[in-house]
Amino acid sequence: MKPINVGLLGIGTVGGGTFTVLSRNEAEITRRAGRPIRIVAVADKNTELANRLAGGKARITDDAFAVVNDPEVDVVVELIGGYGVAKELVLKAVENGKHVVTANKALLATHGNEIFAAAQKKGVVVAFEAAVAGGIPIIKAVREGLSANRIQWIAGIINGTTNFILSEMRDKGLPFADVLKEAQRLGYAEADPTFDIEGVDAAHKITILSALAFGIPMQFESAHIEGISKLEADDIKYAEQLGYRIKLLGITKWTPAGVELRVHPTLIPARRLIANVEGAMNAVLVQGDAVGATLHYGKGAGAEPTASAVIADLVDVARVFDADHEHRVPYLAFQPDAVVNTPILPIGEVETSYYLRLRVEDKPGVLADITRILADNGISIDAMVQREPGEGEEQTDIIILTHLVREKGVDAAIAKIEALPVVKRKVIRLRLENLG
Ligand code: HSE
Repeated sequence: MKPINVGLLGIGTVGGGTFTVLSRNEAEITRRAGRPIRIVAVADKNTELANRLAGGKARITDDAFAVVNDPEVDVVVELIGGYGVAKELVLKAVENGKHVVTANKALLATHGNEIFAAAQKKGVVVAFEAAVAGGIPIIKAVREGLSANRIQWIAGIINGTTNFILSEMRDKGLPFADVLKEAQRLGYAEADPTFDIEGVDAAHKITILSALAFGIPMQFESAHIEGISKLEADDIKYAEQLGYRIKLLGITKWTPAGVELRVHPTLIPARRLIANVEGAMNAVLVQGDAVGATLHYGKGAGAEPTASAVIADLVDVARVFDADHEHRVPYLAFQPDAVVNTPILPIGEVETSYYLRLRVEDKPGVLADITRILADNGISIDAMVQREPGEGEEQTDIIILTHLVREKGVDAAIAKIEALPVVKRKVIRLRLENLG
């Protein structure tokens, strides 16, 4: 059969991995795809490196638009990242009738609706397995493997950098800033780690999973995002003592009032498998009404794991290359005319449990004042511990775990608690999910 001709935009880590895996596993991949997949054109500023990787088998240019406009190219693989020129290139490729494979979660989470609409009009595939959780085939699982289910919620460790930092903070009892420096030295965290540590990267990914799970448009702008930069090692220690681990989770949940879409540090029971995902690994827990819970675990980044996802998309494109567009798998799992614009629930309306840490004067009546405020706001206590004050110490920490409560109720109670003269610093508030 006629080979599939690929034009590759960007030969960073993932582009390099794509070359390596495509050539090492060429025979197996061709047997699966039913036709050879060959890279015929590459665009990168570093043309020397591109030449070396391609070994004379592809046209090399520093002009990405030349690849997108190349009549010989059937599929454009976009590995540039960001939503600047990458968006122009993807839309141009679609306009030229080319299929697109992309690892670009930022682009899809923010401009996916426009890109899928354009692709649908032109009858081309836009595939994005590598955009979420690197080598874990979570897009395929949610879009196809679980398509019998009403998906109830997804909770994922979908950022390896922050999971590495949290694991180190727990293991070594070190503060966030020290571990971040170490992560940068080891190459886990980038020189500008903002997108990772502030939860933006995870929010891009959970936005994509939310759209796939519930048949809704991408609504990144409505996601609630909190990162780990303000997390204190003391809270990791207290959580541990209470039987919980703290993970940066991307969470999306269907509720009758709307869809929850949020990223924040979360206490989860230490006995859950996902609580034991350590270092830079990723894991995604999907709860469906028929299947129950499924846990998908693996490497969320790196050259070959991410290339594994890119090439799986290329194999999919090769298999449906000659199919009518209406017989292909829909971009967001649901048929394009069946995507429903369900709103994202404001964070104040979200119901979950909470971990509260209060720094208080250690004297009679303090606990009574605090529990009265919680009771007045309809907040039920699940567990409570008080740190034994040190010799001569006049202040202590009280840690309270609550039952389910709406966030705006907790905010109101915290404001009243912080106004008490015996409360000595801002209340630390973390969300807790049982994931049961
Ligand atoms: N920066 C991401 C992470 C990997 O730390 O998991 C790419 O999505």
